Amino acid sequence: MTFDTSPQKLARRFPQDFLFGVATASYQIEGAATADGRKPSIWDAFSHMPGRVKGGDTGDVACDHYNRLDADLDLMAGLGAEAYRFSIAWPRILPDGTGWINETGLDFYDRLLDGLKARGIKAFATLYHWDLPLALMGRGGWTDRDTASAFARYAGIVTKRLGDRLDTIVTFNEPWCSVYLGHLTGVHAPGERAMEAAMAAAHVTNLAHGLGVQAIRAERPTLPTGIVLNAMSVMAASDSDADRKAAERASDFNNGVFFGPLFQGAYPASLLEGCPDLAGHIRDGDLETINQPLDFWGLNYYTPTRVSDNPDAAFPHTADAPAVRPEKTDIGWEIEPAGLSHVVKDLYGRYELPPFYITENGACDNTGIENGAVSDTMRLDYIARHLSVAADLVAEDYPLKGYFAWSLMDNFEWAEGYSMRFGLVHVDYETQTRTVKQSGEWYRHLIAAHGKA
Ligand code: NOJ
Repeated sequence: MTFDTSPQKLARRFPQDFLFGVATASYQIEGAATADGRKPSIWDAFSHMPGRVKGGDTGDVACDHYNRLDADLDLMAGLGAEAYRFSIAWPRILPDGTGWINETGLDFYDRLLDGLKARGIKAFATLYHWDLPLALMGRGGWTDRDTASAFARYAGIVTKRLGDRLDTIVTFNEPWCSVYLGHLTGVHAPGERAMEAAMAAAHVTNLAHGLGVQAIRAERPTLPTGIVLNAMSVMAASDSDADRKAAERASDFNNGVFFGPLFQGAYPASLLEGCPDLAGHIRDGDLETINQPLDFWGLNYYTPTRVSDNPDAAFPHTADAPAVRPEKTDIGWEIEPAGLSHVVKDLYGRYELPPFYITENGACDNTGIENGAVSDTMRLDYIARHLSVAADLVAEDYPLKGYFAWSLMDNFEWAEGYSMRFGLVHVDYETQTRTVKQSGEWYRHLIAAHGKA
């Protein structure tokens, strides 16, 4: 049976104050890598290293959003987006990571926020979506405690100058990626491959979050403040005791490493035992600093994580288990909408969590332009199915306040370069022409229908 994707029917299942938005991130769309005082981030350096990014792609130009701000704001207004989740580029604001403040960099976000206000779109800002000023790498980047203080200063500067027009602010986007992909598997910047480095980066990032929240609140105590986590929907490959224990360890390693200190003021015991490097980084008072009450949190969900027991592997002693569902997106990720409710129920069962937004969800669907149109039916279906699960969660009283489609437009997909497209809007990278896809039109209908419900 095919799934009913009627936007009108779906829209009716969400309360009036539910927000529908679109999301992007600075390095993925802005381009203008050397404009107006911006200096390199670790991603500029990494993408310029041969062999790190597919096709040798870089974010030098990306979607040229920096130079096309007004047109892109019109584009999101045209979709009817009620909120826009974007990130601020630290290397535009503090090109050396610390020291002098680049007012011209802040001006860009001033214009962005004024543009959003003028169009009645709410502003959801992220402070760190992976573009660490390269200058801070000289001192060890996220493995160095001083980076946490540098981040807090940056958070305070941004909040002071832009906070009056922000609807929410988050410290970090998906620290799992910046910590583990950046320092353990090396597929993301800065490309390190060591558990010791990953544990240092995890703790320094958590500390930076805590100090960052304090800095935000010192400037604007009432600005809703949170963090965005790609909590994994961990599913055991079988019902065997070994696989179920493996899933628990995977959950501690991937989720508990952040949720534990953030929401309980402690790292999971299995993690401290399995990764002995971690304990050495924790100083007196750190866990209290990290454990700040948050106004909300953001969940990014795309696909489940299936694991089986593997005693020979490093902690968490697991192996990736095969997909169960046959459907995959074009990046090879299993499509399993039930994973969304699984992870939400799991997390609210384990931790005392504030309300949340789905801050990212979407599909890589590389359907191209044909006769001026993009019939990305797989993405449309994917989003509809996940929204249906989101509506179920709302009906079951989980405090879900909004949904952000990833992404407004095709963009620089990190190690995959421009080869993987997640946009509701197609971008022709030769001409920078934007074309709203079928999924974008559908999303527009959904939001319009919701507005009328
Ligand atoms: C999560 C990240 O936050 C975003 O930057 C990325 O493009 C999407 N997932 C898709 O992989």
